[in-house]
Amino acid sequence: MTKIAAAITAVGGYVPDYILSNKELEKMVDTTDEWILTRTGIKERRILKGEGKGTSVMCIEAVKRLLEKRNISPMEIDMIIVATVTPDYEFPSTSNIVCDQVGAKNAWGYDLSAACSGFLYALATGAQFIETGRYKKVIVVGGDKMSSIIDYTDRSTCIIFGDGAGAVLLEPTTEDVGMKDFILRADGSGIKHLFMKGGGSAYPSSQETIDRREHYVYQEGQAVFKHAVTGMADVSAEILEKNKMTGKDVQWLVAHQANKRIIDATAERMQLKPEQVLMNIERYGNTTAGTIPLLLWDYEKQIKKGDNLILSAFGGGFTWGAIYLKWAYNS
Ligand code: UT7
Repeated sequence: MTKIAAAITAVGGYVPDYILSNKELEKMVDTTDEWILTRTGIKERRILKGEGKGTSVMCIEAVKRLLEKRNISPMEIDMIIVATVTPDYEFPSTSNIVCDQVGAKNAWGYDLSAACSGFLYALATGAQFIETGRYKKVIVVGGDKMSSIIDYTDRSTCIIFGDGAGAVLLEPTTEDVGMKDFILRADGSGIKHLFMKGGGSAYPSSQETIDRREHYVYQEGQAVFKHAVTGMADVSAEILEKNKMTGKDVQWLVAHQANKRIIDATAERMQLKPEQVLMNIERYGNTTAGTIPLLLWDYEKQIKKGDNLILSAFGGGFTWGAIYLKWAYNS
């Protein structure tokens, strides 16, 4: 029997209109455009404004754009998985809201929480539903409204994050394209370096949790940086080795956009040239689960059928991993 693979066959993305520049951040915290640019590679990020607007607003737009581009009816969609750490509500899931608002009345889905590696975890999960033959059209979304959990008085954390969402459609193929391999990892002992303490069942929201500023991201930047450089570079090198490839066999590195120095270290380890590394961190910053699908959205026209892509991420949890896939279409 011919093996069914899961292939990305369409991409959609959305970033809010409001641009928060380094210059504007200079007025909010003790920082400079020069410091942010040289230490992170970020020039500006997008912020979703408006009362009652959550992550779903961006996910819905990304999914609608994807469906319109391919002229696919939402009724054809079997499932929508949303990777996010900033869901609209504790429940229902953001996926529930997205399914309803895009008109995917035959779909079901759920949210998946793996911070900056969320999109990789969700892509690997969504692919299983295609590869088993169970479903024909699965949408995987990565989106976060990081501005809703960022402390804009914490200069070492607030400068890297932004809001945005991207979505991909997975469909079955018997051609030699699509998802080839994944390596996903988790280490819960990393919680102390990057997490949000308040608002969950351990420390439910209370006046005390608010006073202690526990509803914001807590990040020990240097510790996370060290783990990220090693974790992302190691796993990216490992997936190449496992598939008997070298950097020469790869057309594009699609790496989580947290800090340009982490991406550069990963590319160097894989012996890639700068032109093989997709980058949009300067415009969007770190959109957590949104970075990888937003890269695919931005660079869709340059990626050609048959190109080998390595997707790679490291984030809170700790979670990290890499996916090897062969691009399935020319746009
Ligand atoms: O995406 C999920 C995972 N997250 C990450 O991957 C983030 C990883 N970490 C990082 O990207 C970096 O650690 C940061 C960008 C968050 C911070 O950069 P850093 O180069 O690690 O800075 P640092 O925390 O080591 O601070 C160095 C200095 C300190 O001053 P002193 O103590 O040397 O005088 C900080 O107080 O830079 C200072 N500093 C700043 N100065 C100007 C920290 N933030 C700022 C700032 N502007 N925004």
